[in-house]
Amino acid sequence: MVERQKNGRCHHIGIIGGTRGMGEWFARFFEKEGYGVHVSGRKTGMNVKDMAERCDVVVVSVPMGATTAVIEEIGPHMRKDALLMDLTSLKRDPVSAMLTSSVSDVIGCHPLFGPQTGSMEGQHVVLCPARGDRWISWLRTILSKHGAHVVETTPDHHDRMMAIVQGLNHFNTVAMGIALSQSGATLSELSLFSTPAFKAKLKIIEKVFCRNPGLYAEIITMNPDIGPFIEMYARIIAEMKNFIHKQDGEGMTDLIEKRADYFKSA
Ligand SMILES: NC(=O)c1ccc[n+]([C@@H]2O[C@H](COP(=O)([O-])OP(=O)(O)OC[C@H]3O[C@@H](n4cnc5c(N)ncnc54)[C@H](OP(=O)(O)O)[C@@H]3O)[C@@H](O)[C@H]2O)c1
Repeated sequence: MVERQKNGRCHHIGIIGGTRGMGEWFARFFEKEGYGVHVSGRKTGMNVKDMAERCDVVVVSVPMGATTAVIEEIGPHMRKDALLMDLTSLKRDPVSAMLTSSVSDVIGCHPLFGPQTGSMEGQHVVLCPARGDRWISWLRTILSKHGAHVVETTPDHHDRMMAIVQGLNHFNTVAMGIALSQSGATLSELSLFSTPAFKAKLKIIEKVFCRNPGLYAEIITMNPDIGPFIEMYARIIAEMKNFIHKQDGEGMTDLIEKRADYFKSA
């Protein structure tokens, strides 16, 4: 017999995209909490209709490019008393698709850590509550209990922040990685001359290039808010190049010092 949630009590959680990555991480997390967890991927697991019928909470955790289509598939099958949520790195389009395609409660969720992270302790998790109030305290409580810093905001604000924290950041990493690979120096040669700052940067580059390049590519290309930041970045590079051409150390120092106050509160 199908168990139903009463007053936001959850028994079964379905995770579409729970066979790998972030979805698998949350599948293990919810299992450890004692919930019945059902996962699916493209070729395995429960079909969407059964998942929507059986589960009190359905989580969509598929690559960004597939997210809207998957939400539109599951949404119409969701119960009114259930929760539809996602883990997508952008929030505007997935939350809008969840609201349009279902009658259930809707919360957009973005864990600001990856599946290599051991625990939620000290990590940030963004929530965008979008419809209903049956589930928000359940979700807040379970995340906070594991030490997450829960930040609640709108999808628009989230995506603007992610254009900087992820979009601009990973754009910079990809450009640096490509430049290194075209520099003519091998990594083993560079490693003989590595400083701590360079070693730290290499670790980040290795993560972006070798773990899940598609994810980073989607984070950079699919956020409509990223354009102005990349334009600004290109202008800054042009300005910096100018100081190099003129061998103008003073000008470069001045450029850095003018911005130092911004970082002093960090
Ligand atoms: N990785 C991170 O660091 C991270 C952090 C925060 C948020 N996120 C978000 O989490 C989501 C998943 O990212 P990920 O890195 O975990 O991806 P991933 O490692 O590539 O895993 C994707 C999952 O989705 C399934 N899948 C792919 N296409 C599907 C489809 N059309 N229908 C149903 N299932 C499908 C895959 O299952 P099969 O291969 O078995 O089909 C797999 O379980 C993305 O929205 C991403 O923005 C990722």
